[in-house]
This record gives sequence, C-alpha cells and structure tokens, in this order.
Amino acid sequence: MIDHSKRYLLIFESLLLVLSCVTLYATSLYIWGEDISAADDVNDKPVELHQNEAANLNGPAMHYNNYADNGVKSSIFGSMNTSPKVKLVKKTSFWFRDSTSFWFTHHQRNNSHHSDEFKRVCYYRLPESDSADELQPEDVDPFLCTHIILCVGAGATFANNTIVLDADNYDELIERMVALRQQNPSLLLLLSVMRGFDDLVENRTAVIRTAYNCRLFVQHYDLDGLDLDWEFPNWSPDPQLNQKEKFVMLVEKISTALRLVEPTYLLSIAVTGIEPMLDQCYDLPRLSSNLDFISLMAYDYHMYQWYLPFTGHNAPLYPHSSYHGFLATVNIQWSVQALLKRGVPEHKLMMGIPTYGRSWRLLSPEHQGVGAPAISGGFGEGSITYPAAVEFVASADVAAMDAEARVPYAARDKDWISYENVASAAQKAAFVRSNGLGGVMTFTLNCDDWSPLSSIRFPLHSVIKRVLGVGNNSSHDVP
Ligand SMILES: *[C@@H]1O[C@H](CO)[C@@H](O)[C@H](O)[C@H]1NC(C)=O
Ligand SMILES: *[C@@H]1O[C@H](CO)[C@@H](O)[C@H](O)[C@H]1NC(C)=O
Ligand SMILES: *[C@@H]1O[C@H](CO)[C@@H](O)[C@H](O)[C@H]1NC(C)=O
Ligand SMILES: *[C@@H]1O[C@H](CO)[C@@H](O)[C@H](O)[C@H]1NC(C)=O
Ligand SMILES: *[C@@H]1O[C@H](CO)[C@@H](O)[C@H](O)[C@H]1NC(C)=O
Repeated sequence: MIDHSKRYLLIFESLLLVLSCVTLYATSLYIWGEDISAADDVNDKPVELHQNEAANLNGPAMHYNNYADNGVKSSIFGSMNTSPKVKLVKKTSFWFRDSTSFWFTHHQRNNSHHSDEFKRVCYYRLPESDSADELQPEDVDPFLCTHIILCVGAGATFANNTIVLDADNYDELIERMVALRQQNPSLLLLLSVMRGFDDLVENRTAVIRTAYNCRLFVQHYDLDGLDLDWEFPNWSPDPQLNQKEKFVMLVEKISTALRLVEPTYLLSIAVTGIEPMLDQCYDLPRLSSNLDFISLMAYDYHMYQWYLPFTGHNAPLYPHSSYHGFLATVNIQWSVQALLKRGVPEHKLMMGIPTYGRSWRLLSPEHQGVGAPAISGGFGEGSITYPAAVEFVASADVAAMDAEARVPYAARDKDWISYENVASAAQKAAFVRSNGLGGVMTFTLNCDDWSPLSSIRFPLHSVIKRVLGVGNNSSHDVP
C-alpha cells in the first residue's frame, strides 16, 4: 500500500511530466509553428516535428546517428541506452556540452561581433593529404582571420536531411582546425555547404529536418556556424521553380535553428555581384535579416569564355572610364553599391578579395594588354595562385598595375594573367575601410603564399589585416 506522501509525490511527478511535454510541444510550436499548422505550399504534407527533436534544439548533440534520417529516432531521455545503433561520441565533454552548461563550465566562445572591428572572413580548403604541398591546419596562422570558413572536397552537401562530408578523414581535419582555438580562442570556424540545394528546397519537410540537423552538425564538430554557397539559386532556365523564394525559406529555417536559442551559431551566405543575377537570385532584404553576414564573391568578373575571347581582370575594383552599359557594372565598386542599394546593411557586407588570379592564352604576343584577343584559358586550367603569379611576373615581358581598375596584370609571350598582389589587396582593404563595410572575405588561404620558407607568410592576408587596423601592437604583427 502506497502511503499518502508517496502518492502525492507520484501525482506531482506525473504533473511535472505532463507539464514538460506541454512545454516541449509549445516550444516546437513556437519554433516550427508555421510548418506544423500551415498547409504546405511546396509539395508535402505538414510536418510533425518529433518532440524530442524540438527538445534537442537546445540539447546535447548526442551522436552522429541522430543527424541522418536513418530511422533511429533517439530521444534525450531514453534511447541512448536502448538503441544499439547509437554511437557514443569520443569526447565525453561533448556529451554534456549544451544541456548541462548550467552545471559544467565549458569553452564558451564569444561570437558577439563588434561593429568597431572589421571581420576578416577567410575561406580555407581542407587538404586532401598530409603532403607538405598542401596547406595543413597546423600551418594556418590562427590570428590572420576572425572567421575561417572550411571547404571540403567537392563541397559539403545537403543530403538525407543533413550535411554530408564526402570523406571520413574530414572529422579529423576539422578537429585539427578546432585545435587552433587553443592559440586563438576568439577564432570562429564555419563550414561551407556547397551542394544539394536544388533537391533540398523542393521539399519543405526535408528543409525543416535539415535545419534542425544543421544545428546538431555544428555542435557535433564544435564549429561556430555554417556558410551557404549556393551557386546560384533561381539561375536555372526554369522560372517555375521559384528558387529565389525557396532560398529565403531555407535560410529562414536554418537561421531559426542556429540562432533562435542559446547558444547561437553563425549563418552566412556567399553571393555574386553580377547585375542580372543579383535581382534574379536573391531577395536581399529578407536574406540579410536572417544572416550574420553576406560575402560578396567579388571575383571571376572576367575569365576566358568562348563568347568573350579577351583578357580582363579577375577582380577589378573600379571600371575603366571608357566603359559604358553592362561593361561599366562588371567591377567591385558597382557590386558593393548594388548590394547596399538592395538592402544589405553595410556592417553585414563582407567584400571578397581573391588570392588567386586568372590566366589566358593570347592570340598573339603582339597584343599583351587588357582586352587583348585570347584563344583559351591559360596554364593552370585558367587559374593561378599568388606565389605562382609572383614567379610568373619575375620573368614576364609586361607587368603592370592597371591604374583605373587598381589590379595588376602580366604577360609573357602568349600567356597572360590577371592577379592580386600586396598593393591591390591593400587598396581593396582600404576600400572596405573607407566605405564602412563589415569587413573582407578572402578566397582562399590556400592560394596565398603560406610556405614556411617565405620571408612573409600569407602576405596578402597580412596586408589586409594591417590596413584594417588590427594587430599594430600585437606580437603577431606583420612587418
Ligand atoms: C565579448 O568580447 C567583447 C570584446 O571583444 C567584450 O566587450 C564582451 O564583453 C565579450 N562578451 C563576453 C560574454 O565575454
Ligand atoms: C543517403 O542515404 C542513402 C541510404 O542510406 C545512401 O545510399 C546515400 O548514399 C546517402 N546519400 C549521401 C549523399 O550520403
Ligand atoms: C520530403 O522529405 C521527407 C523527409 O526526408 C521525406 O520523408 C519525403 O518522402 C520527401 N518527399 C518527397 C516528395 O520526396
Ligand atoms: C594600424 O596601422 C594602420 C596602417 O598602418 C592604420 O591605418 C591603423 O589606423 C592602425 N590601427 C590602430 C588601431 O592603430
Ligand atoms: C599601441 O597601441 C597604443 C594604444 O592602444 C598606442 O598608444 C601605441 O602608440 C601603439 N603602439 C604602436 C607601436 O603602434
């Protein structure tokens, strides 16, 4: 026979249980409400989010299996012990990370951004081998960038309601990047997702599950956020797809999952700055309000095309004074103004600076200037790293700075390159500074001169950092 106090305890416990279920349901309604109640306008039934999924939003990123929609529906309460498929994570600290931060102190990064500091967002391609020819995580200077966006293999992909990396060794590589925080605890690490958008956005249910799993993914890898590199939404011949609107929906869902509850994570996208694409691909005001920052891919303005067989600049800061019409828009200044005019707040705009250049094969060595006739892309499959450009310039027939576009070019016999050097990178950083933009994005760390044998490592990144007024006093100062 149960005595009264025990019975009351039982009732009390049941009440608590009911209350917590109601809270969970309310939370899920709050976060995903529109999707649970609204009729679906894409092609699916409305979504019932599992309560444990909503609960997990702020809960522990338990185990990798939880990401994939593989039928294992674990809950934070039970299945950890009951499901044989559950794989426990190596690090125990990880297990306790979020839900128990009340009890356990853990490494809490300060990702509240301060408008008085320019962001330096750098793309970094993780190496495919241990070869000394590739930039290894340990050789990345952890103070050069405020944010590093990781790219993997052919690009991380949205698939199976989560983010899929195309090889196993990326786990270890990401861990090695995370280890850089031991030197610079303020370093922020994001992962770039580059593929799988077209299929994903057609399925609203999948978008919602993916958004939730994005959060678990970020927590699992101890990252600070995600970057979406869809090249390009709504740029297909089929306007019926309405990917412009669907991209906003995707960004909203992922943003909610990453940013609505503590701890919050970062979300950014990369956009093109070419005129017709800006309007066709992006609803910039709505995207901006859901993002921490937007990176302008301020490069690839010219490369060899069969229909455009002339040399030109990869990343001209300004147009030539003789340019009119469309040609006058194909430069960074135009793109930046266009983005601001279309509603991107200045402090959220990161202006891209390439560390790579482009190469052309000339029709004739008689014409080696800007706009000279070309017959194909040049050596290196049409692109060239900064150190390779420096080597090329050392034996070039022509090496000049375009006084109007403010970028260098060089020619040797029938080879022609447009590239970025310390002077042009400095001018671009100064442009960011004088226009009060949020900062710069660079593509990539790998294409800068990172060789340990160089007198100045990462010369392009270093000059950008210096011009943006960071580190004049620090031990990591550039000469
Ligand atoms: C984050 O860093 C800024 C300075 O960079 C500081 O003012 C602020 O107090 C920090 N916030 C936390 C929670 O540590
Ligand atoms: C998605 O899951 C299926 C079945 O588990 C698998 O065959 C497929 O390779 C997965 N897709 C990706 C991109 O990992
Ligand atoms: C949409 O995604 C959900 C979740 O992955 C899946 O169950 C459903 O079959 C998908 N619908 C279509 C039409 O592919
Ligand atoms: C650092 O140096 C740069 C140029 O050398 C200068 O423009 C900037 O204002 C300096 N920043 C600080 C914080 O002193
Ligand atoms: C270092 O910064 C302080 C102010 O924070 C400034 O007074 C000083 O001149 C700087 N030193 C150098 C070498 O730039």
